[in-house]
Amino acid sequence: MEIKTGVDIVYIPRIGKLMENEGFIKKTFHASECRNYKAEHIAGIFAAKEAFFKAIGKRSDWLKVEVKNKKTGRPMLIISDELNETRRIEDIDLSISHDKDYAIAAISILTKNA
Ligand SMILES: CC(C)(COP(=O)(O)OP(=O)(O)OC[C@H]1O[C@@H](n2cnc3c(N)ncnc32)[C@H](O)[C@@H]1OP(=O)(O)O)[C@@H](O)C(=O)NCCC(=O)NCCS
Repeated sequence: MEIKTGVDIVYIPRIGKLMENEGFIKKTFHASECRNYKAEHIAGIFAAKEAFFKAIGKRSDWLKVEVKNKKTGRPMLIISDELNETRRIEDIDLSISHDKDYAIAAISILTKNA
């Protein structure tokens, strides 16, 4: 087993600007991720996806990764079966925070790869 960590920080106004671009939104976020369409929330999701790619060491299709919130509000990252099989991921833990202009996400991944 191996733990991989990824972290990413995002300038919220940059995401706010990109949110005006429908093409960017469609290729980056699931409809479910856009239910709360506040820039700080979307920026947190964007940071979570970047942090995941950083943790696995490879960028992938944005839509193969989905951020959901548990009933408590705690975020979790769901990945496609294909990504799961190639990366042999056992468990993922995600945390997101935002304050003023910045959103940050930290992710830990437990993989079977030694
Ligand atoms: C989790 C908690 C510490 C967040 O504190 P905060 O400083 O206000 O928020 P931050 O800006 O740092 O982070 C916000 C992000 O925390 C995450 N979050 C929300 N609730 C969470 C929880 N229960 N556990 C972990 N992460 C949580 C979300 O990703 C959220 O982003 P979003 O609002 O865009 O979805 C605070 O909400 C808390 O104490 N919650 C306790 C649980 C609770 O009150 N549950 C009520 C519903 S049952």
